[in-house]
Amino acid sequence: MSKRIVGIAGSLRGGSFNAALLRAAQEECPAGTTLEIESSRGIPLYDGDVEAAQGIPPRAAELKDKVAAADALLLVTPEYNNSIPGAFKNAIDWMTRPPADVPRVFRNRPVGLIGASPGAYGTVLSQTAWLPVFRTLGMRPFFGQLLYVGNAGKVFDAAGKLVDDAIRARLRKYMEGFAAFVA
Ligand code: FNR
Repeated sequence: MSKRIVGIAGSLRGGSFNAALLRAAQEECPAGTTLEIESSRGIPLYDGDVEAAQGIPPRAAELKDKVAAADALLLVTPEYNNSIPGAFKNAIDWMTRPPADVPRVFRNRPVGLIGASPGAYGTVLSQTAWLPVFRTLGMRPFFGQLLYVGNAGKVFDAAGKLVDDAIRARLRKYMEGFAAFVA
């Protein structure tokens, strides 16, 4: 049976390199696997008082259900100050509420991680910063390959299309490896 991956890009801006990388990952997703594109938009800042009074924000609850129904999760992370951007971490944090839902949404779920930045190191440090989060949630990270997309301003054109053939080949290899891991 066909496997389903939900991909979430961790940037809120329209011209995001990471959203562009997620679209390219969908193009390179191998046959027999589908990659559904999601974003971290529309989720308020975590506030325990809001949670107590109103529960989980609708968009966070919707994303939780989408991840729970999928075979795997692919995070496409930007890097801010050598770590995870707050907005992306905040979205995932809301998705881990209430804690009783963590097994349903995250535990033992395969997770892939890629990212793009205009800098030379292409999200090496923000990808590393995600690892304790995966460990805490009991996820199964795909460690078979690494994909850091640096110099994003050259790798993507003004319309957000991936125009670097070498990176596209590495992305295809990543998606093939991740799909095999998920299967
Ligand atoms: C950045 N950026 C950045 N890039 C990087 O490679 N390492 C870093 O530590 C940082 N730090 C950083 C901090 C802050 C506050 C901002 C706003 C930006 C640049 C960042 O990679 C760039 O803005 C990307 O374009 C963000 O990803 P999206 O929005 O294009 O997906």
